[in-house]
Amino acid sequence: MSGPVLVRTRAELADQLAPARRAGQRVGLVPTMGALHEGHASLVRVAREHVDQGPVVVSVFVNPLQFGEAADLESYPRTLEADLEVCAREGVDVVFAPTVDEVYPGGDPEVTVEPGPLADVLEGRTRPGHYRGVLTVVAKLFGLVRPDVAVFGQKDYQQLVLIRRMVADLCQGVEVVGAETRREPDGLAMSSRNVHLDPEQREQAVALSRTLYAAVEASGYGAKVALDAARGELRAAEGVDLDYLEITDPALAVLPDDVPDGTDARVLIAARVGSTRLIDNLPLVLGRPQPSADQPSPDQPHHQE
Ligand code: PAF
Repeated sequence: MSGPVLVRTRAELADQLAPARRAGQRVGLVPTMGALHEGHASLVRVAREHVDQGPVVVSVFVNPLQFGEAADLESYPRTLEADLEVCAREGVDVVFAPTVDEVYPGGDPEVTVEPGPLADVLEGRTRPGHYRGVLTVVAKLFGLVRPDVAVFGQKDYQQLVLIRRMVADLCQGVEVVGAETRREPDGLAMSSRNVHLDPEQREQAVALSRTLYAAVEASGYGAKVALDAARGELRAAEGVDLDYLEITDPALAVLPDDVPDGTDARVLIAARVGSTRLIDNLPLVLGRPQPSADQPSPDQPHHQE
């Protein structure tokens, strides 16, 4: 198994990708902040499906611009050796792991990507400036890698919606693919943050996905009943400090009170378990009965989205 080529600078990245560009191959990008797990590995597999023979690039960069607290930035796991092993297993061609100076040579950029009003709802309410930082670094990575296709997880659904919006509004010409959330056998969404959960919190954390699946199960009766069912599930949960639980339309807009049967929607949750903030979401269809098989059980691995 030959590993990916590790490049640290813009120039090395350009050199590595030059042959593929000359050959007219498609280039795929999976932007990450490292601490790679099976969820990231699945993004790589999705990228591979979209590039034919072309190279898949994984960027590993802990982006200071998207962190509020300096302590969060410092404590973010940095595991490049292990990340390279994951990339080798998945047949990644190039890992781009630049330093902060390489990405922001002049320090904090004066020009950033203004994410608009969608960045003020949901995650944005407690993380001001976060999505400006995310969109700015993603725009820079698009400029450096010049991918034809970029793959992001649906787990940070707001991020995915905002990136699609940026690509459309700024005519960036990158195909953005949203990949399904990978889940542990009991339903917990895979996340780099799960390592911070102690065994008791790990058990408690499954309440987030249970809450979402309760909403999905009840969504045939409309948004209000779905939310009530979800809140019922949460009331039974211990150790979960809810930040938000909302049902929106797929573009994260507020739904009107009366929506027609068959309206696509999204249910989103954020909560703290101990000091770890977790997010998750699922698609649902309002006013149409959902098959009950959507609910995973501990002995039934399930990756529905
Ligand atoms: O989702 C992430 O890991 C990050 O927000 C991203 C997209 C790599 C930008 O830093």
